[in-house]
Amino acid sequence: MQPVSTSAARYDTGTMVFHWATAILVAAQWLGAHTIDWFPKGPLKVDARSVHITIGLLLAVILFGRSVWRLTGGRRLPPADTGVLNLIAKGAHWSLYVLVAAMLLVGMALSWVQGDSIFNLFTIPAYEPGNRALAHQVQGIHATIGWIILGLAGLHASAALFHRYVWHDGVLSRMLPDG
Ligand code: HEM
Ligand code: HEM
Repeated sequence: MQPVSTSAARYDTGTMVFHWATAILVAAQWLGAHTIDWFPKGPLKVDARSVHITIGLLLAVILFGRSVWRLTGGRRLPPADTGVLNLIAKGAHWSLYVLVAAMLLVGMALSWVQGDSIFNLFTIPAYEPGNRALAHQVQGIHATIGWIILGLAGLHASAALFHRYVWHDGVLSRMLPDG
């Protein structure tokens, strides 16, 4: 089924900045997290984890700002697809919002459960020191949500590219600056 052709309408700059900042930081977080174990135990590893936690907190601020902007001044555009495709796109968008929010909350819970030091400047005391099983469990949940986000964001990005290069419509351009 060929989707409806979209007009030249675009999201506003704020929506685009929030979208691309989220996409870039989520990807950076996922990749960055997998390098943490490359560092030897010690101050460098603490720094690597601190960068991950700090960017994670920045992402939480961005996600909050994006949600407020979407509910207030952010431009809404008519659906890019019709019928089932529209439902799938909407489902994917809402799932991404919920999953990224869950990832941030579980990440914060993980820092608290296992305890940490932020750049060796201050300490997050462990919720239950020595309970490695709990930390392991929460880390497993954090990692699993990460894989689900990766898969869904991959499908979402593929759909945007499919719109552009197969259907030759303007859906991707709606999220890109003019020119
Ligand atoms: C982790 C990465 C990403 C996340 C979490 C994400 C999330 C989202 C969300 C939640 C929306 C819905 C916006 C709204 O209605 O409020 C959206 C829209 C959009 N995204 Fe992404 N996105 C990601 C990556 C990408 C990538 C890599 C591309 C392009 C290759 C892309 C292209 C688009 C486009 C074109 C729209 C607008 C669709 C429309 O107008 O219906 N996104 N994204
Ligand atoms: C969307 C944002 C995030 C993504 C994509 C992400 C991704 C990941 C991934 C893939 C891992 C490795 C899991 C494993 O295989 O064991 C990880 C570990 C971790 N994450 Fe996140 N994370 C995010 C946000 C956060 C936040 C907000 C915090 C805390 C405030 C956090 C704290 C941690 C901690 C403490 C670890 C364990 C690091 C270690 O000890 O090796 N994450 N994260």
